[in-house]
Amino acid sequence: MNWNFTDILIPPGESLVASGPVIAEIGFGNGEYLEHLARTRPDCSVVGIEISQWCVTKAARRALSAGFRNVRLIHGDARDLLRYAFEPRSLSEAYMNFPCPWPKRRHTERRVASPRFAALIGGRLAPGGTFTLATDVEWYAEQTRDAFLSSGSFSAGPVERNPERDYVTKYERKWREMGRETFVTRAVKTAEVSEPDTGKEGEEALETTANPGIAQLSLSDRLRPILGECIRKDGYVVIFKELFASGDDAALISVISVDEGFEQHYYVKVVLSGSRWLGKLDSIGHPYRTPGVRASMRAMSRIAGIEF
Ligand SMILES: C[S@@+](CC[C@H](N)C(=O)[O-])C[C@H]1O[C@@H](n2cnc3c(N)ncnc32)[C@H](O)[C@@H]1O
Repeated sequence: MNWNFTDILIPPGESLVASGPVIAEIGFGNGEYLEHLARTRPDCSVVGIEISQWCVTKAARRALSAGFRNVRLIHGDARDLLRYAFEPRSLSEAYMNFPCPWPKRRHTERRVASPRFAALIGGRLAPGGTFTLATDVEWYAEQTRDAFLSSGSFSAGPVERNPERDYVTKYERKWREMGRETFVTRAVKTAEVSEPDTGKEGEEALETTANPGIAQLSLSDRLRPILGECIRKDGYVVIFKELFASGDDAALISVISVDEGFEQHYYVKVVLSGSRWLGKLDSIGHPYRTPGVRASMRAMSRIAGIEF
């Protein structure tokens, strides 16, 4: 069978466009719970975020075989994608089932549930929206509850031990057969707490007034001074890597930006239109418009007079 994943995968750089409620599942594994959500909540768009390419492929096949129209998948780290691929207050519910607890102290950074994660979910959930974590690790459930409570956005009852579950996945069934317990933390968003700049809110205007001395320069001569330029600000770093010019009326410049550890490699395409040089983020490696990406566009406007 030929699988057409284009209907189900949200490509990098793009956000979900949905009219009704949106439910997110973080780290969906083989997609079993995602399938349950899609089946039982046909009025909702269900979006899965998963870091493993293999799991994304398996879940995509599962959803396509079942003919679901309300499932979309995003491949990558939920800690970055929640920030950049979702609009503020766009989620009605978020679920995370049996994440790896990363118990060793030196692995703490790999843990998904953290105070930063609680703040992120707080920004993406609509008022009254819920976050539900199921885990077989009691301390993880307690720590997650504490992180959500201390974010200031959530209320949460006590962690529940072996509560009635709406659906039990193969993974959970296996744990239960081994005599392990399930702990559930459920948090309800009760207040809005402002987040640091996420690249979604308050787009800054891009400067377009460049150094007037460059007006007579060829495209390559305009762009060359940008190469090797490194912009370092709180929260992001941007490096301009290479210039590929074709004749003197079109060019691509490759850029790397890293926003709080979220690395993106992309190209900015520059073309001549009448007497203006127009820049556009190229569709190859199409990036999310993070603060770093927007800074790269501003630098190109300032240094080379490119308009975006
Ligand atoms: C132990 S499995 C649980 C899978 C599934 N939720 C279940 O209950 O059967 C944890 C899943 O989370 C995914 N994962 C781990 N870290 C992630 C991250 N930062 N962003 C998205 N997915 C992640 C893993 O690839 C894996 O599929």
